Amino acid sequence: MRRPSSLLLFLAVASAAAAPAKEEQKACADVRDQPITRSGSALYLGGGKPWKAVGANVYWLGLDENVIPPAGEPYYAPFQASYPTKGRTTEIMAVVKAMGGTMIRAHTLGVSTGNPLSLMPSPGKINQQAFEAIDWAVYQAREHGIRLMVPLTDNYDYYHGGKYNFLRWAGFNLTQTADSNNPLVMHFYTNGTIIDMFKGYIRTLVTHVNPYTNLSYAEDPTIFAYESGNELNGPVWGDMNVPVSWIREIGGFVKQLAPKKLFVDGTYGINKTHLSIDEVDIFSDHYYPVSISKLQSDLDLGEISPLVFMSFVLSFGKLLEFFFFFGCGVIRDPSLCASRRGYGALSDTPVTWLP
Ligand SMILES: *[C@@H]1O[C@H](CO)[C@@H](O)[C@H](O)[C@H]1NC(C)=O
Ligand SMILES: *[C@@H]1O[C@H](CO)[C@@H](O)[C@H](O)[C@H]1NC(C)=O
Ligand SMILES: *[C@@H]1O[C@H](CO)[C@@H](O)[C@H](O)[C@H]1NC(C)=O
Ligand SMILES: *[C@@H]1O[C@H](CO)[C@@H](O)[C@H](O)[C@H]1NC(C)=O
Repeated sequence: MRRPSSLLLFLAVASAAAAPAKEEQKACADVRDQPITRSGSALYLGGGKPWKAVGANVYWLGLDENVIPPAGEPYYAPFQASYPTKGRTTEIMAVVKAMGGTMIRAHTLGVSTGNPLSLMPSPGKINQQAFEAIDWAVYQAREHGIRLMVPLTDNYDYYHGGKYNFLRWAGFNLTQTADSNNPLVMHFYTNGTIIDMFKGYIRTLVTHVNPYTNLSYAEDPTIFAYESGNELNGPVWGDMNVPVSWIREIGGFVKQLAPKKLFVDGTYGINKTHLSIDEVDIFSDHYYPVSISKLQSDLDLGEISPLVFMSFVLSFGKLLEFFFFFGCGVIRDPSLCASRRGYGALSDTPVTWLP
């Protein structure tokens, strides 16, 4: 049955929820155990209070590329990959919280394939060490009352891995640079061997029990949503060619493992043929640069309503400009915003806030 679905918009907007006082947070500690639920095109805390997703994109929480760690620490030089320190992760949670954020979208809490520091460095092999940073981030989010949206793979050959790892593991010698227009990339969505491999990865991730909470990621409502992937496309940039059958299969699988999670269609853009997929709670699009007309044309597609506005903090210079332009830029310490690529709490110096 067709029903209104939610549209998630990654758009910089200065919307802020007041951070609860410490006492209040303590008294309501069990709020963290309530899942975020969807009814029609609105989100709720548990079944009750409306809940707004306001937050940042902090992609490096599970695996970083912005810091060269001290000698002897785990480091994969070809990708400049390292695990973030615990302090850095805690700091960014506190920053997002202080800015009125309610959530963080974090690629590397879900996308971690293909290099020696990844959760899955090679097919079927699990690197338990990689869970430490992920566990800590989920725990710290929980401690700060922050919810997490977690993509499960990436459209690109980026340092943290993505769909090309699964393709290569299945014997398709493809790279983003050489093959982003190669029709063979569709095997990621259609080839049973690859789908099973991806599902195996998802199962390992989602059923992992976090020793800091004794909850599996599936059980912990801190992760309120899993997203099929980041900016997924087919062989043509912007084609939104992610098969309905694949979205149903991955969404159904996530919900079978974690029935209380919301599922986000990570197709890059709103594909009209996806609007009736029952497994999808939230659609996503990214507006680089922020474009109200593109937003409006997404909304015109059908029974969707703008639901969530996030400050999509980071990534590239342009976004950072919009971040400031839209008035979320209350951080004066530039090192907090301008790490090499993205939004990183790189500094040990205190953050200065505008009044
Ligand atoms: C799926 O990929 C495998 C290689 O892992 C290949 O042997 C098989 O033919 C592919 N299946 C289809 C239907 O193309
Ligand atoms: C994979 O493809 C690249 C070119 O994109 C080529 O240089 C390399 O030799 C290939 N590897 C295998 C194992 O076929
Ligand atoms: C998790 O469970 C173990 C074993 O029952 C227990 O020793 C530990 O204190 C628990 N940790 C937390 C954070 O609840
Ligand atoms: C949308 O998804 C369908 C079904 O998966 C696909 O055939 C189509 O190419 C996609 N793109 C557009 C623009 O509809």
